[in-house]
Amino acid sequence: MSAQPMPNPPSKLTVRQLEQSDATAVQQQSTDRGAAWISFRGSVPAGYVVLTTRHSMEFGGLDGFVDDLFVRPAFRRHGVGASLLTELFRECSKRRVLAVHIEVGSDNAPAQALCRRFGLSNNGRQLFTVRVA
Ligand SMILES: CC(C)(COP(=O)(O)OP(=O)(O)OC[C@H]1O[C@@H](n2cnc3c(N)ncnc32)[C@H](O)[C@@H]1OP(=O)(O)O)[C@@H](O)C(=O)NCCC(=O)NCCS
Repeated sequence: MSAQPMPNPPSKLTVRQLEQSDATAVQQQSTDRGAAWISFRGSVPAGYVVLTTRHSMEFGGLDGFVDDLFVRPAFRRHGVGASLLTELFRECSKRRVLAVHIEVGSDNAPAQALCRRFGLSNNGRQLFTVRVA
């Protein structure tokens, strides 16, 4: 199944790319190697998502990783996560990204349900990681 961005975000919900004035931990991600978005309900930050991209031998071009996706508990189930992913997929389309990946815990039912809404599915592979620096 291909990605199916959600329709228009709920009213009073805005999503924009990060700016210099935003938290330093994620602002450096708005580069040619990725981007990040923050969502507001009114003027209150509700959540954020970070995209990183790289060249993929498997797909023969760019692929993207949802490096982080978080919605503050009080704002969940109001379309914030879906709005953030919609912006991320829009940017991937602009950058001609060929595939999008996300790491989701096997016990994280909310994230799994959200991912399925966007066509992301479990391909049975496991991510092995070692910190090297
Ligand atoms: C996963 C997470 C980002 C979802 O954000 P959210 O803003 O609550 O999601 P949305 O309101 O946009 O939900 C969109 C759809 O996803 C699915 N979904 C989201 N949360 C769900 C839940 N708790 N149970 C079942 N389905 C859920 C539903 O299909 C939902 O559509 P619906 O509300 O019309 O039924 C949020 O729960 C979160 O930040 N969790 C902790 C961090 C995390 O797990 N991040 C993802 C892994 S990196």
